[in-house]
Amino acid sequence: MNAIARYESALHALAAQHRMRALSPRAGLDFSSNDYLALAASSRLRIAITEAMSRGTAIGAGGSRLLRGNHPEHEELEARAATFFHAERALFFSSGYAANSALFATLPQSGDLVILDEIIHASSREGVRAGRAASVASLHNDVSSVEDSIRIWRAAGGLGQIWIAAESLYSMDGDRAPLSDLMTLADKHEAFLVIDEAHATGVFGTDGRGLAENIEGRDNVIVLHTCGKALGGAGALLSLPRTLGDFLVNRCRAFIFSTAPSPLMAVAALEALAILKEEPQRREALESLVAHAGHQAKRHALSASGSQIFPVIIGDDLGVMQIASGLRERGFDVRGVRPPTVPKGTARLRLSITLNVAEADIARLFDALAELRA
Ligand SMILES: Cc1ncc(COP(=O)(O)O)c(C=O)c1O
Repeated sequence: MNAIARYESALHALAAQHRMRALSPRAGLDFSSNDYLALAASSRLRIAITEAMSRGTAIGAGGSRLLRGNHPEHEELEARAATFFHAERALFFSSGYAANSALFATLPQSGDLVILDEIIHASSREGVRAGRAASVASLHNDVSSVEDSIRIWRAAGGLGQIWIAAESLYSMDGDRAPLSDLMTLADKHEAFLVIDEAHATGVFGTDGRGLAENIEGRDNVIVLHTCGKALGGAGALLSLPRTLGDFLVNRCRAFIFSTAPSPLMAVAALEALAILKEEPQRREALESLVAHAGHQAKRHALSASGSQIFPVIIGDDLGVMQIASGLRERGFDVRGVRPPTVPKGTARLRLSITLNVAEADIARLFDALAELRA
């Protein structure tokens, strides 16, 4: 069929640029998942789910939250999460992608300006694109670039609400946003600050509350916590002022016109929050593995991000995939990340450190990496 031809040629073009993506099975030691605390296959989550099923908790929600899909498990999780994250309200979505894109598509209004860090996750960008507000990218982690964007927009007659969006721990670089400076700037300009804690929730902060714990709960702060990474399940919690939560329930199309997340995932997230509080040793163990990875990196003259997300920039799109596949052949599940997911010329191995590996595995990984790069 002729209509297929243009997709074929788009794929050929990707292949020619060494950017063709394909699915490959999980195999080998986990150096690529976001299961930072090794909760995904943990006995506590298994038991929580098994017990919930034997109590009769439904597998599927059966409808949207505004219809019959609103289960007690969703409400219990949201109430617990609001308390845990010290926020007025928490709303559960089926994924972080859905929550981010829904929030940016719904809350900023026509006449507003959204300032996105230039390397912010695709889900935030997607939401802004679907929404009604204007948007601009600021230089990565550069607070004065954010302020310049505000000044330029106001000088050009922009009168609406300002929204500043950042990730607290960047998913591809593992570096942190200057949250307290962004907060000061947001206060100064009466702006909302939206913080994506996808990779920080569970790993940093008191009881794993994340890097935004000191500002979460304020009336101009919205925080995204994903449940599919350190929390080991799936879904996401938005913590936000009550009025904005009510607005989403009334206006957010992704919330209103979609089947609610599985009640079992609400049970898993609830149990994960309990684990964060009761098992600080998981965070401590991860911290010490990350420090160990830092030493190993230094031994091989590589720089460390200081977090569990550990990029090794290779630069060349084909080269990165060859090294990643060499590592997989040696038993290390490492994935290459290429443009457009990361900026041109920064193709990288995105190593992630999780409790699914031991110190000795990390040392062997860095040795294998050095061999392949030699
Ligand atoms: C920074 C960031 N935000 C949001 C998401 C989306 O979260 P989820 O995987 O739950 O859809 C991701 C996932 O990779 C992410 O890295």
